[in-house]
Amino acid sequence: MKNNLKNIFVWSYKEEYSVLRKKILKSVDKVFKSGSLILGGEVENLEKKFSKTTSNKYGVGVNSGTDALQICLMALGVKRGDEVITTSNTAVPTISAIVSCNAKPVFVDINEKDYLIDCSKVEKKITKKTKVIIAVNLYGQSADYKKLNKIAKKYRIKIIEDCAQSTGAKYYNKPSGSFGLLSAFSFYPTKILGAYGDGGMIVTNNKKYFTLSKQLRKYGMSKLYYSNVHGINSRLDEVQAGIISLKLKYLEKSVISRRRIAKIYSENIKNKELVLPTQNKNCFHSYYVYVVRHKRRKLIMDYLKKNGIFCNISYPFPIHLMKGYKYLGYKKGSLPITERLSKQIFSLPMYPELSLKKVHKVIKLLNNFK
Ligand SMILES: Cc1ncc(COP(=O)(O)O)c(C=O)c1O
Repeated sequence: MKNNLKNIFVWSYKEEYSVLRKKILKSVDKVFKSGSLILGGEVENLEKKFSKTTSNKYGVGVNSGTDALQICLMALGVKRGDEVITTSNTAVPTISAIVSCNAKPVFVDINEKDYLIDCSKVEKKITKKTKVIIAVNLYGQSADYKKLNKIAKKYRIKIIEDCAQSTGAKYYNKPSGSFGLLSAFSFYPTKILGAYGDGGMIVTNNKKYFTLSKQLRKYGMSKLYYSNVHGINSRLDEVQAGIISLKLKYLEKSVISRRRIAKIYSENIKNKELVLPTQNKNCFHSYYVYVVRHKRRKLIMDYLKKNGIFCNISYPFPIHLMKGYKYLGYKKGSLPITERLSKQIFSLPMYPELSLKKVHKVIKLLNNFK
């Protein structure tokens, strides 16, 4: 594929596809010939393999990361009136999954340094109604589970890990997804292990929650045409499972590439006005995105765009201030760090196949910005 330096996108799957095309098409053809299109051998195979990479015994393939979160909450019995603690600087689905269970999201502010849940502010938000903490491993870095586990144990609260952005990351040398009672992954195309469509997975070491999650993804059925509990329809299809299985072989390599690009950015960006991301002690960052911040974000992003570099913002709007969640009662100033940083953050181009020439072009432009 031509190394076109004219336009550099924050993410692209096209270079990957040009390398894996034959293998991907072979895998799709295998599924189409197999006679099984949904929840068949490919899904079972992926569930076994993927759960193992996260140090879990069980995996449940579902239709998306959002569904994975919702099913985790349903499996834990979260219902109307319950409260779920999480952050506002996350993807909307973290919150929509809670609301889909009729529960109430309760927001905790983030750390300025790593954009993750500020564990020192969690206890103040716990009430008798708190059932779960959804810890979001944002941007590819794990939340602080040593601190969160202590709190969860003290108040008998359960932890769900939102691993949508942290596939391949580690915390104290253990894989992301091995800290929650249940953990939710996304295979959305942009993700570290991205499908060519939607997909997600729940992983757990708990047999009871595994069995229940499996039922919940298929109308709550314990046997054909018999619903044991109220469930939803969230099946992973065989085509996506086959492609993800194939890409799973390259996961480690692709995380190494991401970390290499991040290292080059970190070592060579010299613009003093840009705040660069850092890796916490005892964390192995998988750099789903490389998030920087600048006080004149619009100006620098416009300048990059003029020069053919297309960045992204995750996330420009804190969820607690969105119209859709106004009823929760938060106001401007409720989460000061989240609100301030949401005006400064943006993500530089980052995907494993991003060429070094492109990376250096981005760096040069950033260093020349006055
Ligand atoms: C932190 C986080 N949680 C949940 C999700 C939901 O995943 P999906 O898009 O597969 O539903 C995403 C992805 O958008 C995410 O980034």
